[in-house]
Amino acid sequence: MAARQRVLILDYGSQYTHLITRRVRELGVYAETLPCWVASDAAPTAAGGLVGIILSGGPNSVYDAGAPQVPDWVLERGVPVLGVCYGMQALAYKLAGRDAVARGARGGEYGHATLERVDDAGSSGGESPLLRGMSRSSSVWMSHGDSVAKLPAGFRLIARSPSCPLAAMEDATRRVWGAQFHSEVTHTAEGRTLLSNFLYAICGATKSWAMESFLEEAKQKVRDQVGKGRVILGLSGGVDSSVAAVLLHEAIGDQLTCIYVDNGLMRAGESDEVVATFRDTFRIQLRAVDAGERFLAALAGVSDPEQKRKIIGRVFIEVFEAEARSLGDAKFLGQGTLYPDVIESVSPKGGPSHTIKTHHNVGGLPEKLGLALVEPLRELFKDEVRELGRRLRVPASILMRHPFPGPGLAVRCLGALDAESLAWLRAADKIAREELEKSGWMGRTSQAFVVLLPVRSVGVQGDCRTYGRVAVLRAVETEDFMTAGWARLPHELLATIATRITNEVRGINRVVFDITSKPPATIEWE
Ligand code: XMP
Repeated sequence: MAARQRVLILDYGSQYTHLITRRVRELGVYAETLPCWVASDAAPTAAGGLVGIILSGGPNSVYDAGAPQVPDWVLERGVPVLGVCYGMQALAYKLAGRDAVARGARGGEYGHATLERVDDAGSSGGESPLLRGMSRSSSVWMSHGDSVAKLPAGFRLIARSPSCPLAAMEDATRRVWGAQFHSEVTHTAEGRTLLSNFLYAICGATKSWAMESFLEEAKQKVRDQVGKGRVILGLSGGVDSSVAAVLLHEAIGDQLTCIYVDNGLMRAGESDEVVATFRDTFRIQLRAVDAGERFLAALAGVSDPEQKRKIIGRVFIEVFEAEARSLGDAKFLGQGTLYPDVIESVSPKGGPSHTIKTHHNVGGLPEKLGLALVEPLRELFKDEVRELGRRLRVPASILMRHPFPGPGLAVRCLGALDAESLAWLRAADKIAREELEKSGWMGRTSQAFVVLLPVRSVGVQGDCRTYGRVAVLRAVETEDFMTAGWARLPHELLATIATRITNEVRGINRVVFDITSKPPATIEWE
């Protein structure tokens, strides 16, 4: 198989780096991100399918001590290079030396700017292939302190803006380009045209990244890796493990066995749905382990949230390990690891950050059981996994599911757990989800759920005074779950949910709505 065409995005620490990667993939070329300090021999080569390199933006000034620079190998790979924002400044600094970059005057330039092309068809260099098809004047997004003050030898100016006289540069002979603005953000009206020009007109890429071909390639890769070996996979019912399971099943059929651990902390109906979907519809070999009592026993009397998380993680591993051993001959562990889990990010404070996120739900198990990992989704972003899932006919109810924390209802039933409180929480949460679904608000919120407080409040139900529990409705809107706003649910919907919960769930006599954003609060309560 010929090496897949790819564009390398070198990450200099910008918040937009992964957007570049996504945009390139959306345009139909595979893109991968590596930290800017990656060694030459760990980076792709033309023989390995490399067609171009994009240097991202970043928070540094080229003059900062230890600021990341452009390594020699980038210009020696024989493929076109595009520097974006800091990437352009770092290129100019490397090629023109000390006064190539001016320190941010008046604190820099942030927001919309009007870009004016100066690459006239009649000028000496003619029309720039990077800007072809863009309007003579268009709106771009700027976010920079420093800027390029002197073009390196061999470069010409191709665009400027009122505050940035050298907004884009070109050396068509060396095939190096720089743009001060961010073509990857949607605020840059014609950014897509620029990136498309770089990929197709300059790098000579062909449209080669599409889910259909990825799926076939991924299945073949799995077959090549596992041969006749048995693969086990911990299925949680979430998007990633579900798509991984169906993909593996398509690739290797009954060589795959999924293990679903019911920890007794799932929401109403969830365990039955997982079994029905994967065992009955997809005909995947599935072992469902009912371990609810074991988890509850281990959690008895524990009210500290971190302690709860640790216990749940430990018991999960014990249960999963016993089940895996009982299968005897497994050689591989399948996991739904995604691209954001495997990329090493450059710290925004400058300097590389070596933290690599891994999937922890089976932490330590591969080594202990001598299993090799099979991670068919490790090149994909979440929305690509959803698209793949749609092709694999994974139900929308799974693909569009809100995130649900690994420790499940244990961190939504505040304080020490008992079976009765969990049953109340489960019932209240089911009502809230039904009403959100019915009103169309489930799809308009990023995460919505009920929390049960460990306090009692006074109420009056019928002719009697009651001391019931308090349920909290939490509903948030967020892009990345790092910050979130509370969803402005309509009063009528809130009223319906509160009425139904207090009427239908015996132990709850009061419902409150959480109107705190994150920060200062978190999305979960524990
Ligand atoms: P917070 O509460 O920190 O949550 O604002 C951010 C996102 O992470 C989820 N979350 C967890 N997910 N195990 C998980 O798998 C956990 O222990 C955990 N705690 C929080 C939370 O639901 C939200 O989507």
